[in-house]
Amino acid sequence: MKGLENKAMGIISEDIQRVKESADIVALISEHVPLKRAGRRFSGRCPFHEEKTPSFSVNPELGFYYCFGCNKKGDAITFLREFLQMDFAEAVEELAKKANITLRYDSNKTQNKSTLKPIYECLEAAANIYCELLKKNENAKTVRQYVRSRGFDSQAVELFSIGFAPDSFDYMAKKLSVKYGDQVLVDAGLCFKNSRGNLSDVFRNRLMFPIRNPAGAVIGFGARSLDSTPPKYKNTSETKLYRKSSVLYNLDKAKSGAVKSGNFVVCEGYTDVIAMSLAGVTQAVATCGTAATIDHVNLMSKYVERIVLAFDTDSAGQNATDRWLAFLGETKADIYVAGNSAKKDPAEIYLEDPSQLCQMVDAAIPFLEFLLGRIVSKISLDESIEMRARVAQEVVEIIRKHPSPLVREGYVMQFAPDLGFEPDWFFEQLKKPSTQSKKSQKSAISAVAHGQVVQDGKVSKKFPKRHDARQRELLRLCVHEPHSVARYIRGEVFRDSDYREIFDALVEHENISDALASLREETGEILNQIMVEDVANVEEIAPYSLDVFSRVVESQMKEFLHQLVQKGADNTSKVKKLIDTMTAAIDKGDGHIIVECANELLEIRASFEAELTSSQI
Ligand code: UTP
Ligand code: MN
Repeated sequence: MKGLENKAMGIISEDIQRVKESADIVALISEHVPLKRAGRRFSGRCPFHEEKTPSFSVNPELGFYYCFGCNKKGDAITFLREFLQMDFAEAVEELAKKANITLRYDSNKTQNKSTLKPIYECLEAAANIYCELLKKNENAKTVRQYVRSRGFDSQAVELFSIGFAPDSFDYMAKKLSVKYGDQVLVDAGLCFKNSRGNLSDVFRNRLMFPIRNPAGAVIGFGARSLDSTPPKYKNTSETKLYRKSSVLYNLDKAKSGAVKSGNFVVCEGYTDVIAMSLAGVTQAVATCGTAATIDHVNLMSKYVERIVLAFDTDSAGQNATDRWLAFLGETKADIYVAGNSAKKDPAEIYLEDPSQLCQMVDAAIPFLEFLLGRIVSKISLDESIEMRARVAQEVVEIIRKHPSPLVREGYVMQFAPDLGFEPDWFFEQLKKPSTQSKKSQKSAISAVAHGQVVQDGKVSKKFPKRHDARQRELLRLCVHEPHSVARYIRGEVFRDSDYREIFDALVEHENISDALASLREETGEILNQIMVEDVANVEEIAPYSLDVFSRVVESQMKEFLHQLVQKGADNTSKVKKLIDTMTAAIDKGDGHIIVECANELLEIRASFEAELTSSQI
């Protein structure tokens, strides 16, 4: 996959390698989360998930990070891609800038950043122009009044760069085409060529809300009609920079508040987000002119464990809320609902009483509780059995969507009495397959195919295998102190198949990132952990390494001897003698003898096992 990325963007691979090697990963990550030195590593609270105790670890020498809590991992490039949502080329360019490296592009490879840079610049310039117009233009007086009537003061205008697109068919075209050229304006989604071939503005007489990527660069606009020309909101159409299925309005500013509070608040519109933010709920975001997708959800769950929905109580808002039911089983984030009884959206509530918005978010309730409460409240125990049974079935299908059995049980206990049926009936129903769709069955089958354990119809991660601690230390030495073990280390000493695979990959590849890339997901995960684990803190590494190695071999050989004795093998006494010699050498610290005995023993075991398998076949 990495190879493909390199080709796709045209930075020559030698330069990518140089950038990787010179990246200061500790400095880079420290820009976003505080890190403390811990031995040879740095550690801190993970920027990708909410946690109280630090489980995020960075190895400056290898240039890798790993979180023992959420398993996020990677190098400086991965960090920029995942934390700041940059694409591969942007990440490389950002790191090159920091390290003062001038990148060379392969001219044969078509798309590189130089085609995107002017688009970014042009969008930023447009946002500034729109904003200046709103603040100062003669013709924008009534617009300013309108903005004030929505409760947004000049600080809010500044903070969200709210702007005004004048009622002209080519204002922006004229303003920016000389500097950026027609094509850039079209690529930016600001202009289009009309039927006569003239460059025309996309946005006219509209209130402009710049939409930024997570790194804060303008990538598009949401634009509200100021006369009653439809549509009410016009959003930038898909461009190279703007993909509505994954963009979240205000994510750039909301991130830090989200990480602090542990949640994102999802609103329906731009004005709702601004209102929330002005009311102190700075972690508010919105999708832009589209329903939420799983991409949006996954993007948020990188930062938080909870997503709070703050939609209108009108039917459109309620439908949007219901759609989130589908995400419940697909995300590990908890979904909550900030309900309000009045039929108002956050922007309207803000005008009445901003403090209500904070209260709403604080009082948010779990999504299922909200949905079930809504259904059950519509029905009373006086209703016919048939009616209640129908509602009960509906309740079962909703409860079923929750991935946790404990949570499911809790909801049954809470809502069964309201419907006048025994909880056991609900549990029976939950055991049966859903009457609604076969989708979940399919996903269970594909999970089995991918080696995941299926319990209770839901996919859970395989239980981590227990690995041998001494072998792990030996593998750590191979990673962090390869010179100390290079002379005698050999694959046979890793009895654990995962460790063996990792060791072989380390031997086969020139550098550790190539080794990492060659591994399966599970073993890659283990290597990643090892990369940020410290070897024991010792004064002299060489004797320590030898000690670890010899003890690993010694304990394995004792087991091997036991096996030989049981089988009555004829080389039993030879092996016993070798082990005794090795043990004596360990006591004396005679490295030469230790290594010699170890090698011989490992070889004997290897041929013994080879014979054993061939006789079995
Ligand atoms: P709303 O109609 O609820 O608008 O649409 P709003 O955000 O409350 O705006 P104000 O407060 O009346 O000014 C919610 C969101 O749906 C998208 C926009 O993203 C909008 O913010 N939308 C709405 C469109 O994309 N196009 C439309 O024509 C209408
Ligand atoms: Mn509104």
